[in-house]
Amino acid sequence: MMKADSLTSRHIRGFRHPIHEVEFRHRCRNELETEGVLVLREFFTDAVIQQAAEESAALEASAFYSNAVHNVYLTATDPELTGTHPFNRPVVSNKGLIADDLIATNSPLREIYADPQFRAFLGFVLGLESLYPYPDELSTIVISVASEGMELGWHFDTSASSVTMLLQSPDGGGVFEYVPEVRDADAGDMGFARVKQVLDGREPVRTLDFSPGDLVVFRGRNALHRVTTVNGSTTRSVVILAFNERPDASMSQEALRTFFGRTT
Ligand SMILES: [Fe+2]
Repeated sequence: MMKADSLTSRHIRGFRHPIHEVEFRHRCRNELETEGVLVLREFFTDAVIQQAAEESAALEASAFYSNAVHNVYLTATDPELTGTHPFNRPVVSNKGLIADDLIATNSPLREIYADPQFRAFLGFVLGLESLYPYPDELSTIVISVASEGMELGWHFDTSASSVTMLLQSPDGGGVFEYVPEVRDADAGDMGFARVKQVLDGREPVRTLDFSPGDLVVFRGRNALHRVTTVNGSTTRSVVILAFNERPDASMSQEALRTFFGRTT
């Protein structure tokens, strides 16, 4: 049997999840493909979660808070359509984002992001040959914080997949809800009828339960998803790690301003 140290970084419990094994990698990739989501329980150590949660709490006041009304497609609305059309239905999101450049250079989150074994595993699971950070200094490792009353409205992601780790659960609310395969972005199918059903509360939704330390990979481009309103005095805090397929993937200046309130 191999020693745990030879398989894992200090922050990743590779011995709980054999992320170096070909068979395990295939199982994870299949699960993500068929379920649209992969949750690996207790993937990160308690020590890294505690340290990152403390860092997040200390930076909470420096987060950029935005209160946005948007459509589920995260695009401009279409004046040719009515206000009640699924394309134009207003959805509210309010949250804070802690930008990458606020996170300490010695943060364990940076070691996790750079960990070769973790990257090799993710590359396989996501079906990407190479993984690149964003070229800007804000967007690669981001902590999303939501205090009491904040929520993330129904939306589709613009990227195919997200890699996240919860740092802190709120006392109540802050539940991740989703409905898989509502649209087919590549085929140009907007899924208007089902979007309407979900927004009207007439479609059953799934709840994704995950705890601090779990690794969550979610395919959000075609799955409608939201985070319900946070209740209580404990902030919901989640790390989002961006891995791009191409080195020149970049956020527009407009997107940076929307997310972080600044461009550098
Ligand atoms: Fe999302």
